[in-house]
Amino acid sequence: MDRAQPKLKVLSIFGTRPEAIKMAPLVKALAAEPGIDSRICITGQHQSMLQQVLDMFELKADYTLDVMTPGQTLNTLTAALYAAIDPVLEHVQPDKVLVHGDTTSAMVAAMSAFHRRIPVAHIEAGLRTGDIHQPWPEEMNRRCIDLISDYMFAPTEQSRRNVLGERLQGVSFVTGNTVIDALKITAERIDSNPQLRASLDSQFSFIDPSRKLLLVTGHRRENFGDGFIDICKALRTLASRDDIQIVYPVHLNPNVLGPVTEHLGDLPNVHLIKPLDYLSFIRLMQLAHVVLTDSGGVQEEAPSLGKPVLVMRDVTERPEAVAAGTVRLVGTDPDNIVRGVCALFDDEHLWRMASQSANPYGDGHACARIVDALMGRPVDEFVVETLNRRPETSEAQRPPVTQRSVSSVY
Ligand code: UD1
Ligand code: UDP
Repeated sequence: MDRAQPKLKVLSIFGTRPEAIKMAPLVKALAAEPGIDSRICITGQHQSMLQQVLDMFELKADYTLDVMTPGQTLNTLTAALYAAIDPVLEHVQPDKVLVHGDTTSAMVAAMSAFHRRIPVAHIEAGLRTGDIHQPWPEEMNRRCIDLISDYMFAPTEQSRRNVLGERLQGVSFVTGNTVIDALKITAERIDSNPQLRASLDSQFSFIDPSRKLLLVTGHRRENFGDGFIDICKALRTLASRDDIQIVYPVHLNPNVLGPVTEHLGDLPNVHLIKPLDYLSFIRLMQLAHVVLTDSGGVQEEAPSLGKPVLVMRDVTERPEAVAAGTVRLVGTDPDNIVRGVCALFDDEHLWRMASQSANPYGDGHACARIVDALMGRPVDEFVVETLNRRPETSEAQRPPVTQRSVSSVY
């Protein structure tokens, strides 16, 4: 007599805004797969910024931890996560634990599973700058997670080459980035519904239609202190131009909110606003002329929306859009930032070249590929047809893209 196959019990653990955005379409795909019993554990590393995402995607957690404290340090956060996650693993006894990216939640969840000999699947595996301090501590987190992962879901061919080059034990697949799945769902919602669009736009009635919009986000720990002071200096200079207006949804980290409010709070054409829900943020990105950011996710989304991006970092683990010409690194030097932004505002031809819509990070089917792999089905891997690729051998050895090495793109 045929016995029903036991379901694969998968526990997804995440806790920050970007993880929730990138995991949302995946946990929905897992829930729709008959062979999978999907559970969600939210660590609560973020609070309100995470809740906005859970609400928008209508995600319900099976386990909600509450680890966030204001101005948390990496060590207090890490300790709180270890203490909170282990009882969940004990209770669920999952067959696999899924983590995403490079946050402290992801690293501790992966290590906690590893300590219990539970196989780990890493979504967004293989991103590397090659510099353990940039981004900090994320480069260490993702390397550590890949080291102990059984499955590495690399978003791009380059990221898979990175893990292959490290001779890790897990099996790797090129899936595309799940952020493009999330973005497609969200952009289609906005584009297909004029009423929704009008209601989103009504939040931005302060935007002056006669000036072009520079959208800014920033939060990286390695930019705390002098880095943020320099970013603010650059934004003050840019705000003196009559044709630019700046909208900056400010991250709630006190190390960001403090200096940004102090140095930019008094400028009439700099709009400092609260973090936006994902739908509103994507709409704002659609309205922007140029995006200035140090965010990982924003670097991946903006090229899909045809928006030129200047990245306030010296090195990126996402070289694909730099190669495609839609992203350029400007670091945090105020003069460099001002020069980069002014070039895009003043030179129509440059702006047009940088605003070519490109999709090096995915095709919206990353989640389906990940589910196929977890179920042991053949995986139709993600391939970018449009990018010029270098030969296999040199690409595997290719150094991370740095500000110096990409300056010729513009
Ligand atoms: C974390 C991740 C980073 C990711 C970023 C996304 C680590 C080490 N860092 O950095 O990789 O890019 O999230 O935003 O995992 N806060 C609130 N409410 C919120 C969220 C944050 O008040 O909803 C404040 C709290 O004071 C908190 C602080 O921000 O202590 C820092 O949060 P934390 O998650 O430690 O660092 P992020 O800089 O957000
Ligand atoms: N985002 C958002 N609201 C905002 C700013 C950003 O929903 O006010 C989204 C953005 O679209 C992207 C993600 O948050 O998907 C990026 O998060 P963040 O920059 O905090 O983290 P990172 O991607 O650098 O890890």
